[in-house]
Amino acid sequence: LPVSSGSRMVSLVVNGASSADNLAPTAVSEQVKSVANEELFYPSDEFRASALISSREQYDNLYKRSVEDPDGFWADIASNFFWKTKWDDSNGKIHSENVDIRKGRINIEWFKGGKTNICYNAVDRHVEAGRGDDIAILWEGNEPGDEKTLTYKDLLGSICQLANYLRTLGVRKGDAVAIYMPMITDLPVAMLACSRIGAVHSVVFGGFSADALSQRITDCRAKVLLTTSGVCRGSKVIKLKEIVDEALSLCLAGGHTLESVLVFPNDSAIKRQDTPWIANRDIWWPDVVPDSIESPIEWVDAEDPLFLLYTSGSTGKPKGVLHTTGGYMVYTATTFKYAFDYRKGDVYWCTADCGWITGHSYVTYGPFLNGATVVVFEGVPTYPDASRCWEIVEKYKVNILYTAPTAIRALMRFGDQFVKPLARKSLRVLGSVGEPINPSAWSWYYEVVGDRHCPIVDTWWQTETGGFMITPLPGAWPLKPGSATLPFLGVQPAIVDEKGNELEGECSGYLCIKASWPGAFRTLYEAHERYETTYFSPFQGYYFSGDGCRRDKDGYYWLTGRVDDVINVSGHRIGTAEVESALVSHPLCTEAAVVGYEHEVKGQGIYAFVTLLEGVPFTDKLRKALILTVREQIGAFAAPDIIHWAPGLPKTRSGKIMRRILRKIASKQLDDLGDTSTLAEPAVIEQLIALTGK
Ligand code: WT7
Repeated sequence: LPVSSGSRMVSLVVNGASSADNLAPTAVSEQVKSVANEELFYPSDEFRASALISSREQYDNLYKRSVEDPDGFWADIASNFFWKTKWDDSNGKIHSENVDIRKGRINIEWFKGGKTNICYNAVDRHVEAGRGDDIAILWEGNEPGDEKTLTYKDLLGSICQLANYLRTLGVRKGDAVAIYMPMITDLPVAMLACSRIGAVHSVVFGGFSADALSQRITDCRAKVLLTTSGVCRGSKVIKLKEIVDEALSLCLAGGHTLESVLVFPNDSAIKRQDTPWIANRDIWWPDVVPDSIESPIEWVDAEDPLFLLYTSGSTGKPKGVLHTTGGYMVYTATTFKYAFDYRKGDVYWCTADCGWITGHSYVTYGPFLNGATVVVFEGVPTYPDASRCWEIVEKYKVNILYTAPTAIRALMRFGDQFVKPLARKSLRVLGSVGEPINPSAWSWYYEVVGDRHCPIVDTWWQTETGGFMITPLPGAWPLKPGSATLPFLGVQPAIVDEKGNELEGECSGYLCIKASWPGAFRTLYEAHERYETTYFSPFQGYYFSGDGCRRDKDGYYWLTGRVDDVINVSGHRIGTAEVESALVSHPLCTEAAVVGYEHEVKGQGIYAFVTLLEGVPFTDKLRKALILTVREQIGAFAAPDIIHWAPGLPKTRSGKIMRRILRKIASKQLDDLGDTSTLAEPAVIEQLIALTGK
């Protein structure tokens, strides 16, 4: 069915036998192989003996209760957190939901009426319980040897200082605070300081450009920005404050004034005196934050907003995903604990940046809520060389490592010799996120990194879901490489066909979720209607994930990639429409169509077809200029890998670009273009093929 999504008609294609067009190619071709010799990987007896959930039966019982009595199930878990005032359960319910658009407004609430504070639960609570000297953060800088340790007491001190200063700047409950920082300890500190005072943080990944940053600041009308003078990533120096200044002048030109910029100095990247400065607006962070180590907590309602995080969709404008406090707190903490089989004292390292949801839920909130020791790494996995990650694992005796298939593939290419000399005995659980993990990366992760004794926890979830949705519970059931296995407690997946009928048993189709879960996002910032049409209208009665999925005979779920116009590049979601709109903003480019293609390391690469002004030749200079335009408007990570000049684009008679054909051309499947009978001008195909690789 063609589903109207914003301004563009999106044809949802299921990854079935007949129309595999939209599958992430790596995942599929390798998946097919692995299905053929489907091997089961069981947890060891030793692992099971001490696992939190140690059998399928135990899970089945918990799961049954979680879906039959979600209120009772989650109330029991939530009572392990501190609530200043308990939630309202006067009608016997702790949540209300409507996920069926036919019944009216989509509305999800959990623990409403309950008053709590996530910073208090993540930090103060541990200090008050006498665990203040436990290590909260093991920070590893870009340069080996550059390191810092923060205990929970230290963390609390830093948070309180910043929280107090934010208050003196006039930040109050409900105000948005933008954060544009690299992975230094002050980034999680900044997030927690905001939540302490009830401010809504909006972290913008440090790889976004000035344009993208200004758009995000303006959208939520942030009055304060927290940033850093600069950062070294690998051998590169990135002058963040310069980008900030450019972004803020764009905000100003658009009519939004940001009042204060709090800048954390990073002398290793750029000296204070060399940092561009605007008086009366810019403030050096350490110069002003008071010494006090106390800062009152703002008790907020469970349904008060906690943060905004912008993500890409099928249409041009990024979506401000909004998460609230209580449900997100309970959900991230619980998923962290069970999926990673977390035990007190474990050292945990997630390689994600706090600029993405993984860094929110599983660098900051989930682990700290559990009192965990978290490694925070500023650098990149290949600097100074490809053994860096394993040096970190050895040095800090990491027990749980959580990373992405793209990083695994990148490191795998350097060879085992970078891994084997380093001690990895401490590792107990290995996690994966961002895209389906292809079997060869799975095997390398399992055999070489984990020495065959660590389960691979392949977690499927999204910015919107707040936390894990489909994930192994590593002590409870065997793994199949490439499958995220079974739903987390309380999660009710449904696979539907294009008409929205739920399919039973072994099947493939669109992955939906039937009922709400505590970590679900509540709305898109100031765009509730877009929230409803994007996620709840395509298949009425369900939340639609945007992913294709297959369920096998054992009930295991196999994610097969996005079915909308979103591509997954190195585990980052990129809206093809955003890249297209950047390309066509170049004065010589009249039309652009962007598709994903199989990329050895990134999973998917960005392939852009561009039409130029009549008579303009496609030169290398122009190609570079087009790429630069995308870097400037979005960020380097969204730069097209390939630009293909297209004198004409394949379109239907109604003018819709036939992306299915473009995907085939991009993946060089030229003799299998599928049905071309609806093309308005069949000749453009010949022309395009002739220009392949030019
Ligand atoms: C999209 C969400 C959730 C944190 C990272 C990305 C894909 C994510 C998996 C996985 C297969 C996965 C999906 C999803 N995805 N994890 N384990 N197996 N696909 O968050 O930017 O919101 O992207 O990433 O396509 O819809 P995000």
